[in-house]
Amino acid sequence: MSIETARAALATLGFSISRRIFLLRDMSSRCQIQANALGATDILPADVPAVVLLERIGLLLAPPDQSDSAAALGRRFVAASAALSDLMGAAEAGAGLPVRAIEDSVTALNRAADGGDLNAWLDMVWRHDDATYQHCLLVSGLAAAFAQRLGFREADRRLIAEAAVLHDIGKARIPLDILRKPTGLSAAEREVMRRHPGIGHDMLVAQGGFAPAVLAAVLSHHEYLDGSGYPQGLSGSDIPDPVRIITICDVYAALIERRSYKPPLPPGEAYAALVAMGGKLDRDLVRVFGEVVLDAAIMRLGQYGRPVLKRAAGQVA
Ligand SMILES: [Fe+2]
Ligand SMILES: [Fe+2]
Repeated sequence: MSIETARAALATLGFSISRRIFLLRDMSSRCQIQANALGATDILPADVPAVVLLERIGLLLAPPDQSDSAAALGRRFVAASAALSDLMGAAEAGAGLPVRAIEDSVTALNRAADGGDLNAWLDMVWRHDDATYQHCLLVSGLAAAFAQRLGFREADRRLIAEAAVLHDIGKARIPLDILRKPTGLSAAEREVMRRHPGIGHDMLVAQGGFAPAVLAAVLSHHEYLDGSGYPQGLSGSDIPDPVRIITICDVYAALIERRSYKPPLPPGEAYAALVAMGGKLDRDLVRVFGEVVLDAAIMRLGQYGRPVLKRAAGQVA
């Protein structure tokens, strides 16, 4: 049964179900993503002990506490994750991207950014075990927080979040053996990988209805101000602000992500690496971005007492 069929079947039920526990025989990331897409509030293995299941049901039946910002953020994360699953599934299948899923995702991201807890968002991202989804949710969370910090009006915040959600949509058409290769890519494989911005851009143009800023971010998020990026080798004023914003979030995300061929950098070191890229990135924007990610890191420092920022402190000022 496809996700769409299952969702349609759920919608025909004569009562509304706001909370759903999914028991999965297969706990692979794919099945969990599908459960999230169907609105799972909680996911457990099918052979979970009855006492654990009853405890989870009890938690769900407790009256929702609107003041519980952690629970609200969790729901927003699930919504964004489910919307992303819809998008990637449609892109893989060569179908039109579901506009409603994009809107849902953008709304969830901006509400999460309003909540101001970037650390909690990152913690949820790290629990997602599919690297491509993890990356998209990470870039999206960072971009939404960045746009809020920049003081953008609502319409521009939505554009930035939409650009972030879609920035790597072209990867849905890159062969999985290249996308998930555990070691470094060969020159030929890198060439294929580097097609993803153009593929994503062409998908959006073919569908129509996307804002120029979103199209530009999808096509040009690997361009650098000094002309050393790809696919077009754009430089300086040819790269508009929304693209520069997504690029900064994308580079930072790659630095703090765990990849099979490199360990994740702590926030302070990742930010220092961003600063060290000098004229490749917009220095003014990098400065403001530091307020977003280092504030979050300082909050964490207070939480756990770990000196994560020591090394970067001199380079950030
Ligand atoms: Fe990309
Ligand atoms: Fe990316």
